[in-house]
Amino acid sequence: MLNTYLGLGSSRFWLLGLMALVASCGGENDGDLPQGQLYVIKFPHVTAPGTPKGQTAARFEDLAEARFPGRVDVEVYPSSQLMNDDDSLEALAFGEIQMIAVSLSKFDRLTEKFQIFDLPFLFSDLESVERFQASPTGKMLLTELVDNGFLGLAFWHNGMKQFGAPRALRTPEDANGLKFRIMESDVLQAQVQAIGGSPQKMAFGEVYQALQTGAVDAQENTWSNIYSSKFYEVQPYLMETNHGYLGYLLAVNPGFWGSLPDDIRDGLEEIIAEITEWGNARSVAINEEDRSKLGSSDRTNIVTLSDQELIGWQDAMRPVWEQFSEDIGPQLIEAARSSNP
Ligand code: LMR
Repeated sequence: MLNTYLGLGSSRFWLLGLMALVASCGGENDGDLPQGQLYVIKFPHVTAPGTPKGQTAARFEDLAEARFPGRVDVEVYPSSQLMNDDDSLEALAFGEIQMIAVSLSKFDRLTEKFQIFDLPFLFSDLESVERFQASPTGKMLLTELVDNGFLGLAFWHNGMKQFGAPRALRTPEDANGLKFRIMESDVLQAQVQAIGGSPQKMAFGEVYQALQTGAVDAQENTWSNIYSSKFYEVQPYLMETNHGYLGYLLAVNPGFWGSLPDDIRDGLEEIIAEITEWGNARSVAINEEDRSKLGSSDRTNIVTLSDQELIGWQDAMRPVWEQFSEDIGPQLIEAARSSNP
């Protein structure tokens, strides 16, 4: 049934609000449900178990099941085992799964506001992203997509993105003509075009093979994803640019969430607050560890850029801001910028 919608391009997203309503029909049964009912939370995601998202999702499973034995069963499916991110957006809106942590970039067709997270070189580091997400403006984004069937409960970090390529990219001109895999985001598409590359939107689970077969030449991702998905085996050069942020919206179907008994919902929200803090701190350590493993691998080379070289990349990508500023909203951009030190 999901495939019915796959061919509809962006118009299928108009249907998500409707599907969310259908999925939530009969969901206002708080209190009427017999005690002892088992609530199953299916939580598929696309990264490996050892990544920030993988570890935090597993911790959610452990803590939720320990707190509500026999009442809550969390089923985490890592590594795109169950479905890719695009399909998980639809499945959540249909009520076929109950929880997702999908990259903010991939909500592009549902809201222009999340494009803020893709603007190149907007956030100077992860702490700045965190300040923005914790600000009143940032927190408002959690509920931005409720009408579309996504209630955001938290922002989870992965980390800052780096480029990988078949040759060392010291200047944006070096990227000229390369085919870059990107996530489903028009900002990322414009970013690659700004450096003379050819962007190709592609699901995460397909990237390794696409790099290996030469369907794409280059990609951008965090140290953690590059290491755990072995992209480094097929990317001889990794450029330490920290040019963008990769983080997730931890989201549930609002109808499902509203249908949970109060004690379970409150308890799970407490656990989510706890694991978000834990996972976001872990994300820094995991990315550092994976960067260091990549640094000692003989399959790839980490290219560090001088301040002057980095300014060249910032200048080349800067027009992307102007291109999207009207859609995102200048005030939102200002709020994000002001979170930098
Ligand atoms: C990607 O597609 O590169 C990322 O969204 C994967 C992830 O979930 O970190």
